[in-house]
Amino acid sequence: MRRTVIAGNWKMNMTPAETKAFIEELAPMVKGMDKCDIVLCVPAIDVPAAVEAAKGTNIKIGAENVHFKESGAYTGEISAKMLVAAGVEYVVVGHSERRQYFGETDQTVNLRTLAAVNAGLTAIVCVGETLEQRELGYTETLLKYQTKMALTGISKEQLKNIVVAYEPVWAIGTGVTATADQADEGNGYVRAAIAEVYGKDVAETVTVQYGGSMNDGNAAELLSKVNVDGGLIGGASLKTDKFTAIVKAAN
Ligand code: PGA
Repeated sequence: MRRTVIAGNWKMNMTPAETKAFIEELAPMVKGMDKCDIVLCVPAIDVPAAVEAAKGTNIKIGAENVHFKESGAYTGEISAKMLVAAGVEYVVVGHSERRQYFGETDQTVNLRTLAAVNAGLTAIVCVGETLEQRELGYTETLLKYQTKMALTGISKEQLKNIVVAYEPVWAIGTGVTATADQADEGNGYVRAAIAEVYGKDVAETVTVQYGGSMNDGNAAELLSKVNVDGGLIGGASLKTDKFTAIVKAAN
């Protein structure tokens, strides 16, 4: 059985005070909804407030990025060890916005994934095709390539600390959601790539999320698909009622 993981990705939103208020409001709403893991990936500056507010609840806290070195002259970066020390359990790696705006490559995504997992974090590794790549017919090839590249050097045992999020770039923040069948197909390519490297049985145990305009209205249908084991949610994770509805759909 694979664990369903519903994770919010707040991106560059919320102050520490807003974080505290949000989690205090959300916690009673999702109390007892334990058939999935509930994660909020928040800006680094909000991590202490989030960890504090989530204490004693079923909400876990994640970060949105991690550097691959343990320490050193990397101005502006944060190490996996620092995140763990702050109480973080999950971290988003290789989000398309980081690939698009911050020069993230398949190599750096791999290094960040390794650093996260080696430090004991669960990495939510994002893969996804652009509209142009989809229209050219490269979706399967690209998803398999990105998945294998990101997981290079990750052992079979370490896969338990890996969640892969299939996020078609054309569906992120656009209000255009992949159809449930497109999501299932994309997630299926990710799982097939994992099977090609680690074997089918192992691939069946890995949580593969869908992300891209998932909301309270479409979550139930997306999550009903066999290959969709949760969601990585941007916009709809910034409203407690919408996020709760998605968690409820997963339960
Ligand atoms: P969205 O973002 O739900 O706002 O489309 C998803 C993501 O980028 O993880």
